[in-house]
This record gives sequence, structure tokens and C-alpha cells, in this order.
Amino acid sequence: MVTAYRTERTTRVRCWGTRVGPAPALSSSRRTQPRGTRNLTRMAVNKVMISGAPASGKGTQCEMLSGNYNLTHISAGDLLRAEVGSGTANGLKAKEFMDAGKLVPNEIVVTMVKDRLNQPDALAGWLLDGYPRSKDQADALEEANIRPEVFLLLEVPDSILVDRVVGRRLDPETGKIYHLKYAPPESEEVAERLIQRSDDTEEKVVPRLETHNSNVAAILDSYSDVLVRINGDQAKDKVYADIQEALKSL
Ligand code: AP5
Repeated sequence: MVTAYRTERTTRVRCWGTRVGPAPALSSSRRTQPRGTRNLTRMAVNKVMISGAPASGKGTQCEMLSGNYNLTHISAGDLLRAEVGSGTANGLKAKEFMDAGKLVPNEIVVTMVKDRLNQPDALAGWLLDGYPRSKDQADALEEANIRPEVFLLLEVPDSILVDRVVGRRLDPETGKIYHLKYAPPESEEVAERLIQRSDDTEEKVVPRLETHNSNVAAILDSYSDVLVRINGDQAKDKVYADIQEALKSL
């Protein structure tokens, strides 16, 4: 059964940076497998945005979507963590805002994402994760003539999100997202190398949620014509199935 619905008519290259564990071995593009090596599923859309509160499952769904569809996954959070990890001036400034659970200023984020969208691997199709997060960012994309064919919003009650945040763990070698309870590692070997993001604490999730909740309405206004709401409070495979159904029906 499809629980996704349209309101009107309506790929995350995860990287790292802000973390408590060791540095990853792979770069931000490691999840984007070379074209031709994947079992690609054809779909009619090739410009997809995915949004939702912290830990609503954006990255988890993007792992599955980018693995099965010919879309380059671009995550604003991952691009920022890579910048932080590189220790650049922008990275140092971004870290202050990320640690506070606030939006990183546009002068850092807007150009960073636009440049990434213009790289060759993104020209054929992209899955933009966690961007835009404000009206200004949406307007900047409009000005650059960048518009999604579909805007997916993962809806999960706030009460569920804290548990997801504090239990999240990441594999620095593969980039895969785990959860101690809901998606535990497959082996002891993987379990031993998992790391936790430094903003994944009960304390830091509160301002992150507030930031999301105070900005989301403006974004939805910008994309109301392509908005598809997905119930993210279900098993991840069910969420994925609903997204597939929604994409198929476009
Ligand atoms: P970002 O990295 O984008 O963080 P976020 O939006 O808070 O989202 P998360 O990465 O925390 O969660 P997710 O939705 O990807 O969930 P996941 O799939 O991992 O941004 C970080 C910071 O960067 C921001 O706070 C901000 O400071 C800055 N920033 C980012 N974008 C910006 C922008 N555009 N402008 C300005 N600043 C920006 O899942 C979470 C956990 O739940 C995992 O453990 C997973 O296994 C589990 N899980 C997933 N799905 C399910 C399910 N269906 N059932 C049970 N468990 C599940």
C-alpha cells in the first residue's frame, strides 16, 4: 500500500568531518559508484530533492535510491563535514554553526552546493539531500535555474527522532549508516570501526529540530507544486517502497 501522497501536482554523497571517531578512509564521492557498475533502475525523473527533520532517514533512503537509480547523491551536511574535516576557513566557520544545530551561513553553503551540482557526474541526474533549507537557498537555486522534478518530504514525529539520532553510527570505510537498535552492524568487525557524529547527542538534537521546524514551511511553499509527503515513521524498506511508488507515479 502506498502511503505517500501528493499535495498538489505535485544521489547523498555522504562525507564526514564533524565526528568523534577516526578519520574516514574514503572521500565524499565514495558512495557514487562508477556508472555501468550498478544495477540501474530507469525512472522518468532525474532531479530529486529529499528533505526532512534530523534523523528522519534522508541519508538512509538516499543510500538505497542512489544505489538503484542513476542519480548522483549530494548531501549538504556531508559536503560541510568534508569542509570541516579539511580544516579550511569555511570549514572552521561552518563547524561553529553545526555544533550549535544552526544553519551554516549562505555565503558558505550556496556556492558549495551549486558548484557540486555543476560537476560532470551530477549533470545527468541528482538527488539533493538536505538542501535547500531556507527560502534564501531555494531562491538562489531558482536564480540558477535549478529546480527539482520532485521534492520528497520524510515525515517523522519529533518523539521518534531523538532515539534515531543518539543510536546512529556510521561506518567510515563504506559510508553506510547504522543504528544500534534499528539497523545494527552485520559483524563484529564492522561494529568495532563504527563512529558517531559529534552532533548526534540528545542535547544537540533539540536545536537541530528547532532549526528544521522553523524553516521547513518556507521551503515547502517554494516546492508545493512538486511536493510528495512520505511517512518516514515506518520500517526503512517500507519507506523506500513508498518513495518508489511515488516516483513511478510521476
Ligand atoms: P545533515 O548532515 O544534513 O543533518 P540532518 O539534517 O540533521 O540529518 P541527519 O543526517 O542527521 O539525518 P538523516 O535524515 O540523514 O537520517 P539517517 O538516514 O542518517 O546536516 C548537519 C548540519 O549541517 C545541520 O545541522 C546544519 O548545521 C548544517 N547544514 C546542512 N545542510 C545545510 C543547509 N542546507 N544550510 C545550512 N546549513 C546546513 O537516519 C538516522 C538514524 O535513523 C540512522 O541510525 C538510521 O539507521 C535510522 N533510521 C533511518 N530510517 C529509519 C527507519 N525507517 N526506521 C528506523 N530507523 C531508521
